[in-house]
Amino acid sequence: MAQSFGVIGLAVMGENIALNIERNGFPIAVYNRSRSKTDAFMKNRAGGKNVVPTFSLEEFVGALERPRRILLMVQAGQPVDMVIDALKPLLDPDDMIIDGGNSLYEDTERRVKDLEGAGFNFIGMGVSGGEEGALNGPSLMPGGSKAAYDAIEPIMTKIAAQVDDGPCVTYIGKGGSGHFVKMVHNGIEYGDMQLIAEAYDLLKNTLGLEHEALHEIFTEWNKTEELDSFLIEITADIFKKMDEETGKALVEMIVDKAGQKGTGRWTVMSALELGVSIPTITAAVNARIMSSIKAERMIAAKDLTGPTATFNGDKKAFIDKIRDALYCSKICSYAQGMDLLSKASALNGYDLDLGETARIWKGGCIIRAAFLNKIKQAYDDNAKLPNLLLAPEFKQSILDRQDAWRDVIATAAKNGIPVPAFSASLDYFDSYRRENLPQNLTQAQRDYFGAHTYQRLDKEGIFHTEWAE
Ligand code: 6PG
Repeated sequence: MAQSFGVIGLAVMGENIALNIERNGFPIAVYNRSRSKTDAFMKNRAGGKNVVPTFSLEEFVGALERPRRILLMVQAGQPVDMVIDALKPLLDPDDMIIDGGNSLYEDTERRVKDLEGAGFNFIGMGVSGGEEGALNGPSLMPGGSKAAYDAIEPIMTKIAAQVDDGPCVTYIGKGGSGHFVKMVHNGIEYGDMQLIAEAYDLLKNTLGLEHEALHEIFTEWNKTEELDSFLIEITADIFKKMDEETGKALVEMIVDKAGQKGTGRWTVMSALELGVSIPTITAAVNARIMSSIKAERMIAAKDLTGPTATFNGDKKAFIDKIRDALYCSKICSYAQGMDLLSKASALNGYDLDLGETARIWKGGCIIRAAFLNKIKQAYDDNAKLPNLLLAPEFKQSILDRQDAWRDVIATAAKNGIPVPAFSASLDYFDSYRRENLPQNLTQAQRDYFGAHTYQRLDKEGIFHTEWAE
């Protein structure tokens, strides 16, 4: 009997999602470029399961019921094109390929056109949740034609994470929209991670707190409605983990150079191209870049002096202020991410449902958080909300906490502790709420040196002045 679903690529994510699909009642066929992975998979994790191993693409395609549904879990970029090119001659009209990797959405746009033009179906699907999510329920962001999605919906709704208001999957929109949404998810993930890192830096380097205290603080924060989230939860766990060799907290033994595979950078690049301001996410990408030049920083650290961090105030009160600053900054970061989604949706005709997008991030994915309920609610109340900051819930949250937020950033500056994402968030808030920004001067300068013209406050029209006397 033919298998109902195929998975190509048995690296960590591929293996786990394959097992998830099989566990949910869909017999699968698997294929991996190197045979040894498939053998090991069959011998170990897939043993006794309804999994058919195949060792050539011909055999793989032959093992699947029609129309075929094939999930690619291979490395983003060229490998995806290579597999698609190799598969194409073996497929029949109406067969479907689903790309579950972190592909650049523009590549997905191209592949959708190419494959649909050739009579096949193609879905570009963001998959979030790491290893554990892939196995037990990820958040899925499928984009492509609606008819193609309908054909896989029964499988996707079963394998996705389940939350109080349904499975963490929804039809995102046409073309590359699924991968666009996943990219922005990752940009927000970068923002969240950087904000948490800055909170840690402040707790450690102004208040001198060590891992036990940090574990307790993050555990407490994870109990609050505002910060309850996967990333805060794992941060609390991280502070508990001791290094057996040195007896120190393991996190303190890790080199402070952050890696990145590209989705954060793509988010920033897309925002720049679309003209959307996402300073918190940009700061998070920059912070990883700055962290990566460790050797240079070690030299600079000897010469470039700054203040010695000291703190004389009420420690407990300051911890609460950092919590509030983190929450305000997080709201701004999500406001930026959602704004990017909204502008991209309008420009590319994705027709995104932002409330539904927030809902499918409530479970399974890396940014899952209780707070996403509030975002969903904000868009349910007003689908045309221009910015999350204007939703009554978030507006009030920031108004109630902004004194603490400002105090934390001022203290960081006085102590020489960099808080690029906290500051970028506050600048975003202060710029967005300002009726008048100083770019009247920028316009005057542009007109001065380049006759770029300007508009006036008091009358309609385009003006130019000979500025030089
Ligand atoms: C997810 C993650 C995942 C991402 C890693 C690594 O949603 O499961 O976003 O897709 O690849 O987090 O990303 P970086 O290497 O860029 O940090």
